[in-house]
Amino acid sequence: MWLYKVLVGMNKQINKLVPIPFPDLHHGAGCIKDAASLLHAIGVKKVFIVTDNVLVSLGIVDRLTELFDKHRLEYVVFDGVMPDPTIATVDAGVEAYFHGNCDAIVALGGGSPIDCAKIIGAKVVTNAEVKALSGKLKVRKKLPPFMAIPTTAGTGSEATIAAVITDPASRSKFAVIDPTLVPQIALLDPELMAGLPKMITAATGMDALTHAVEAYLGSFSNAVTDRYARDAIVTIFEQLPRAYRDGTDLYAREAMAMASYQAGCAFTRAFVGYVHAIAHQLGGFYHIPHGLANAVLLPYVLRFSAPACRDRMSELAALIGLADGENFIDAVEKLNQQLDIPTSFTQLLEEDIPEIAKRALSEAHGTYPVPRYMTQSQCEALLMQLLPIDNRFGDGNNHAKPSLRS
Ligand SMILES: [Fe+2]
Repeated sequence: MWLYKVLVGMNKQINKLVPIPFPDLHHGAGCIKDAASLLHAIGVKKVFIVTDNVLVSLGIVDRLTELFDKHRLEYVVFDGVMPDPTIATVDAGVEAYFHGNCDAIVALGGGSPIDCAKIIGAKVVTNAEVKALSGKLKVRKKLPPFMAIPTTAGTGSEATIAAVITDPASRSKFAVIDPTLVPQIALLDPELMAGLPKMITAATGMDALTHAVEAYLGSFSNAVTDRYARDAIVTIFEQLPRAYRDGTDLYAREAMAMASYQAGCAFTRAFVGYVHAIAHQLGGFYHIPHGLANAVLLPYVLRFSAPACRDRMSELAALIGLADGENFIDAVEKLNQQLDIPTSFTQLLEEDIPEIAKRALSEAHGTYPVPRYMTQSQCEALLMQLLPIDNRFGDGNNHAKPSLRS
């Protein structure tokens, strides 16, 4: 493990040398109406809107294009982004961008459209194959003017240097990481989130919590990231159950949008940990939604990490108002219960566990500043706890299942 510590230490020093910008942030109910004037102000002539067909069918894309029509801003709509966008989707997007003679990108949607749009922008300016952009600092060129309008509160992609893309050939995901991927403008409008289904509200909100918690507990944390992480954690414990119960509660929706942004600001500087490393593999293997995978994994990974970061976890317990003796991990489990998050994965197959663990550790080690290192067998043991309960007993009896869904 000493080698991983050395590599992580080197990464920490490199991180200090690479400044990460903040987006020009706009937020508030109805603030989407400012999108056209903000783009006009920076000289944009024709926008490439990257989104998905669900947002088209919900009329959310029309809200944006009607505004652009009204303000005489030309646009092309690219609605081909699916969950877990692939290299082929990025390639199709780049072709459509050039075909449309666009000069700016607006990403409208959840993490998938925003990440896909970032990599489209990176390919537009580098003309590199998407796989060649994998890893850190491979873009190194300013993207076209880029506005992110998230329609979920979770990924924080509107504030981050990273974008994740899927390679279906290898059933894996990889990240493109470069400060040039931070959107120039982020626009958080809770009205666009009011119609989000409950399950997506829960899963994306827990993704944001995971960003903040992993950033807080990792060894890259500093005073700036701590402030963002703490603000996000307090808000999420207070407001996520409200947004889950009543999706039209615009106060809770806006608070969650800000918490997601703050968690994004924290983890893009302080990184994530094993929850994300394992969740990425579960996404690649079984298409388990990222936020749901994080939510289920978070208490298990926290329990593993606790011996190495008890003081920091106690700080988090105090922060969310727990009494002496009450435990932050229990509070996370309670929050999961309030949000009807399951405690295991129906899709997980025992025979896949060694490979999932191997890939997760390979992603994390040397890169993620985790508070406590995990061995292959410890990671496999953790994953064994996440098998559907019938599989865990292995005796063929029909044991009662907890409520499971993805
Ligand atoms: Fe995440």
